[in-house]
Amino acid sequence: MFSGIPLFPEQASTLAADVDALYLFIVAVTAFFGILTTVVVIYFAAKYRTDDPLKIGARIHGSIPLELAWSIIPFLISIVIFAWAADVFFDIHRPPDQTLEVYATGKQWMWKFQHLDGQNEINELHVPVGRPVKVTFTSEDVIHSLYFPAFRVKADAIPGRYSSVWFSATKVGEYHLFCAEYCGTNHSGMIGKVVVMEPPAYQAWLTGSPGVGESLASRGQRLFNDLACNTCHLTDGRGRGPSLVNKFGTTEELASGGNAAIDEVYIRESILMPQAKIVAGYQPLMPTFQGLVSEENVMALVEYVKSLRAAPAVSRAEPTAENESPTAPQENR
Ligand code: CUA
Repeated sequence: MFSGIPLFPEQASTLAADVDALYLFIVAVTAFFGILTTVVVIYFAAKYRTDDPLKIGARIHGSIPLELAWSIIPFLISIVIFAWAADVFFDIHRPPDQTLEVYATGKQWMWKFQHLDGQNEINELHVPVGRPVKVTFTSEDVIHSLYFPAFRVKADAIPGRYSSVWFSATKVGEYHLFCAEYCGTNHSGMIGKVVVMEPPAYQAWLTGSPGVGESLASRGQRLFNDLACNTCHLTDGRGRGPSLVNKFGTTEELASGGNAAIDEVYIRESILMPQAKIVAGYQPLMPTFQGLVSEENVMALVEYVKSLRAAPAVSRAEPTAENESPTAPQENR
């Protein structure tokens, strides 16, 4: 319809067409009634125009059918918009189960992306085509907003809080990413690009990109030991702090009553503000790590906690009594 006129950014995610359809519907409804009203006003102004200053219009005392019509029709239209928008909203806010996870931080004036395998990027984000990607991010200073126009997703990066967006790119190519919240002098320069690649090219990029070191989770594990988190959060659950094994994605009862979902937001809060939500049965002993751990290290710790799964029944590191056969070669000694 608008071919050749770039009214909209390219549609490059599974969400883009839905967002645009809803948007165009609202524009069409608005335009229809806006034009209808204007035309009728002009028509009546011309039709009932008079030069006689003494003429007075007839009095009108309501009309039930008319009033019902202008109440019920807008009501039905708003309900359609509400239901449709709620559907799109849930699609945008509920990522699928299996997503590729990427962390990001915004700061004046750049976006830093952190892949789970350890790759870092600044103002660039490489993702594979056709795979849902979830970006979890925060800000190190003021409020920014991470915006992928071609994917039709955007969320504020707020200091002290995790936000996230998800998308599944449908087309290989390079697309803009913006900061969409005025954040100081160089706000307009806080831009970058997202590079959508075929999966093999993405794999090649992952292995070949500079900065490949330890994975985010293993960096988190190192920090977990360096910061002595492991002295309280024993894996057998007998420590001064709760065991963190298999806790991600569950719900815990709190000492203050109520429950808390153990997600990225909860783990981050518990590192920086440990007194905020104490798990029932534990004392508020944990010191705060606010100011001691950078946002990137918090992300590494969160990723480490997410990676903690109960050890399989037979663990190589801690052989059980039944498992230790006297005749087996003792390879660890
Ligand atoms: Cu960051 Cu605008």
